[in-house]
Amino acid sequence: MADGSSFVAVLSVFLLGLCQHGSSQQPKPVSPLIVEEQLLYVGGTWGEVHTYRIPIMVGTPKGNLITVVEARQYSGGDSGPKFMAIRRSEDKGFTWSEMDYVLNDGTFQDGMNLGTILVDEITSEVFIFYTHCAHYVKCEVSTTYMVSSRDEGKSWSRPRNISQEIGTMMFAPGPGYGLQKRYAPHKGRLLTCGHGTLAGDGVFCLISDDHGAHWRYGGVMKSIPYLQAKKRGDFDPDENQPVELPDGSIIVNARNQYLYHCHCRIIMRSYDGGETFPLEHLYFDETLIDPAMTAGAYYSNGVKYFSNTASEVHRSNMMLRWSYDNGTTWPGALPIWDKAAAYSTLMMLPTNDVDDQQHLYLLYEKGVNSSAESISLVKISLYGNL
Ligand SMILES: *[C@@H]1O[C@H](CO)[C@@H](O)[C@H](O)[C@H]1NC(C)=O
Ligand SMILES: *[C@@H]1O[C@H](CO)[C@@H](O)[C@H](O)[C@H]1NC(C)=O
Ligand SMILES: *[C@@H]1O[C@H](CO)[C@@H](O)[C@H](O)[C@H]1NC(C)=O
Repeated sequence: MADGSSFVAVLSVFLLGLCQHGSSQQPKPVSPLIVEEQLLYVGGTWGEVHTYRIPIMVGTPKGNLITVVEARQYSGGDSGPKFMAIRRSEDKGFTWSEMDYVLNDGTFQDGMNLGTILVDEITSEVFIFYTHCAHYVKCEVSTTYMVSSRDEGKSWSRPRNISQEIGTMMFAPGPGYGLQKRYAPHKGRLLTCGHGTLAGDGVFCLISDDHGAHWRYGGVMKSIPYLQAKKRGDFDPDENQPVELPDGSIIVNARNQYLYHCHCRIIMRSYDGGETFPLEHLYFDETLIDPAMTAGAYYSNGVKYFSNTASEVHRSNMMLRWSYDNGTTWPGALPIWDKAAAYSTLMMLPTNDVDDQQHLYLLYEKGVNSSAESISLVKISLYGNL
């Protein structure tokens, strides 16, 4: 019976629900559960490509997932000829396109290294950033390239040499995804961060305020000693992933290459749209133990997610963590794979679909004897264990 008191009770529950939804301090608790896993790229013994590495992934506003990896043709090393392999899903990760390639650098000795992938949610254009001659193996000038797609990653432009705008300092984007700012300051800005050579290392971010037509360097956090060979214990923020919070600040979670201060992650924050990363906002997150590795980060509905090899020394133990206070504390952890693992990246589909807001995708390097054996896609239901 709908009497007055139960109506009030229902109304107050409804209002409470609205308040919780609107407040970033009281996010709905998640309880992540793996609902699906597929090996999307398998190298070595079973495939024709020696090794697939460096997974990057983006979700588009039209609801498509795009994964891109380096297909290292003849050896597992970072330099050497490669093609850029791609697989796409139009049904939320259930089925995937046959492997295709975005480009092939043929026999180039220090071939393309990934990279970041980024979607402009206003124009729907997808960008991939990568580097040629990142290690100066039989080449003298390093080039930062960008390719783009206007059809959800089905076809790609010719590579554009953006070193013509930003210079030829070696810039290794990501690996991971780039952002479009959803909040002020600089709403609509495109931003993608990366790192330099080991001597000239640190976090460097590229910025575009005209939907990718022009690029320039924004915020920088240099290594110490800068432009010198490093030793164990030096300060060297390396491969990294930025995320934007609802107050418009950008948090960058970086690999701590020489394990300065801890075997854990370096966290930086920019309050001016990625123009600066003031030292007073840098800290070390001792909960996020890490062997100096590429990690994944994502923020959605008041919850911050983080994936990495949760070990101080080994490339193993892929773990998903979550935080309700912007990464100050990490009350939740879901073990993904306790054997060999390495680079990882996180993504959600940026649509208004309720189902898309309840699923997180993790793409990571996975193996039994070696993390370089395969690249696996895990789909996680965020409320699956409730
Ligand atoms: C890219 O442009 C830079 C700057 O003009 C140039 O030095 C470099 O050689 C170009 N890269 C390639 C591969 O042509
Ligand atoms: C998290 O950051 C948001 C701003 O993006 C802020 O409003 C909120 O108070 C922060 N939450 C906590 C628990 O620090
Ligand atoms: C791992 O190594 C063992 C022992 O060398 C071998 O039998 C097995 O096939 C390897 N597994 C994979 C996935 O390579």
